[in-house]
Amino acid sequence: MPFPIQRPRRLRRNENLRRMVRETHLSVDDLIMPLFIVPGANVVNPISSMPGIAQLSVDRAVEECKAIRDLGIPGVIFFGIPDHKDAVGSEAYNDDGIIQRTLRAVKEHVPGLLLITDVCFCEYTDHGHCGIVKGQDVDNDATLEILVQESLSHARAGADIVAPSDMMDGRIGAIRHALDSQGFPHLPIMAYSAKFASGFYGPFREAAESTPQFGDRRSYQMDPPNADEALREVELDIAEGADIVMVKPALPYLDIVRQVKEKFRYPVAAYNVSGEYAMIKAAALNGWLDEERVMMEALIGIKRAGADMILTYFAKDAARVLRR
Ligand code: PBG
Repeated sequence: MPFPIQRPRRLRRNENLRRMVRETHLSVDDLIMPLFIVPGANVVNPISSMPGIAQLSVDRAVEECKAIRDLGIPGVIFFGIPDHKDAVGSEAYNDDGIIQRTLRAVKEHVPGLLLITDVCFCEYTDHGHCGIVKGQDVDNDATLEILVQESLSHARAGADIVAPSDMMDGRIGAIRHALDSQGFPHLPIMAYSAKFASGFYGPFREAAESTPQFGDRRSYQMDPPNADEALREVELDIAEGADIVMVKPALPYLDIVRQVKEKFRYPVAAYNVSGEYAMIKAAALNGWLDEERVMMEALIGIKRAGADMILTYFAKDAARVLRR
């Protein structure tokens, strides 16, 4: 009787066997926790579409960073919501702005935690676009100048990595050049290289109060069907000096994560965005999914696709699971 010689089930019989042949490991080392910082003191303002996540004032962010460090998570990424928005997002490059104050406070009280800053303008402009608007569109080259100012201001305040998420052409080169000539040649750039115009950013825009007041972001963020273009974006960012390249969102774009890793062999970050978080949370709150199980499955899937690091609102929850 023809019977299979190969029986893959032999290696699935118990947990120790499964552990021995496991190909991908998620580690707390892979996780980066995003935080939303608002003005004021003692503010913890829950974000309704992101259960478990809140906007925090600087003092509370310091406490949160201590908890994150104590869980063994290597780094955080900060998003700032200023009290004052204007057409050119000037609070973004104010040395006394919300992110700059956060950086100084966290550096002082939580030394060693890696502090990444999102470099963009949508949270700082009254129109909610990621740069300077001319007519009905964002002016690329005018925006480069203020992106440079914002990056330098973050660097002066103590950022360990700057992460431009605006998707303007040439921004990595402009920022790299400015950092190098202003005394920050050692400061890495994590480039949001393949950032797609995604509906999955919905909850983030509540959290960051950054919904565009007219139009959308499709003239600067990428069109979701495009993979070759994503590789060209990554190639340009590397040529311009990016140290880490990012694909965002993560789960609907795992093919891009894989291709970027295989083609460039650079450190790849994947951003498990707000909508990906909200979907799992909402289903779990309804009792429709086992939250912990699908969270870990989603994160390991992103890792298996080729990501070296994952920006995720699940970072603390996952770290707790991983240390058990
Ligand atoms: C833009 C920015 C966005 C996110 C990170 N940086 C939103 C956007 O482009 O509209 C989204 C992150 C998320 O959804 O979790 N500064």
